[in-house]
This record gives sequence, structure tokens and C-alpha cells, in this order.
Amino acid sequence: MPAKLTRRDFSERLAFGSFWTAVGASVVGMLKLLKPAVMPEASTRVKLGHPDELPAGTERYLAEQNVYVFSAGDGVYAISAICPHLGCIVSRLPEGRFECPCHGSRFSATGEVFAGPAPSGLPWIQVQRAPNGVLYADTSVSVPAGTRWSRG
Ligand code: FES
Repeated sequence: MPAKLTRRDFSERLAFGSFWTAVGASVVGMLKLLKPAVMPEASTRVKLGHPDELPAGTERYLAEQNVYVFSAGDGVYAISAICPHLGCIVSRLPEGRFECPCHGSRFSATGEVFAGPAPSGLPWIQVQRAPNGVLYADTSVSVPAGTRWSRG
């Protein structure tokens, strides 16, 4: 026959269980502090390289960021490949213009819209030179068309 549980024993067990429950919850809470609750967003800055690595007359398509980067004699500039109509990715045609495959908007080689439902031209993206001399494009910063990092 099991021993009868006294009121004192019951209170002691209850206090003991409450204490260790509180300790366990505190430890779990402290361990959760080690893991960041907010995950960092992907950077919008894209390394383009040193200006010497971007010879005048060349262009590059950054597929991950959907950005065309052009190196001209006087500077480097970037144009977004995201159509301002509904966000499709435009194609660059051999003659240098851009065309949207979704609804047929067409853009000049510098991104100005000249046909289709797109309400505006392709956004130009900021290109800046960091203190270490490397050029970066920031896809979160639009600049007026024609803005470029100047070689001079
Ligand atoms: S998404 Fe480009 S024309 Fe509609």
C-alpha cells in the first residue's frame, strides 16, 4: 500500500516542480536570445568591380539583380531590366533596344519608353565608387536617367 501523501509533502513537491519549471523556462528564454529573431535582408548593393575592369564600350547583365551595367567612355551606368508596367524582365535586343515579352512595351537603348503600356521608362540605378575604388550599384536607389559614375 503506498504511503499517504501529507499536505507538507504535497506542498514541497509543488514548490519543487514550480521552481524547476521556472528555471527551465528561463533557460529556454535565454537560449532563444542567442538566435536573431529578425533575418537580415539580402543586400541591394552589387559589386561591379574596379573601373579598370569595365572597359569603355562593354556591357554586362547581372541576372540575379536584373540590372544591365554599361561602361561608356565617360562613365558607368546601370539600368534596371524590370518593366515598370507589371514587373516582367525586359530583353535586350541586338540593336540595343529593350523589349518586354509580357505586353510588348519597347524601350530605347537608354531605357526611355516609346511603345506599349509601360507608364514610364526603365529605372536607372545608382552607381557609386566606394573608398576602396570599387564601383557598386545599389538596386534600391533609382536615379534620374542619364546619371552615371563619371570617369573624369
Ligand atoms: S509587364 Fe512589361 S509591358 Fe507589361
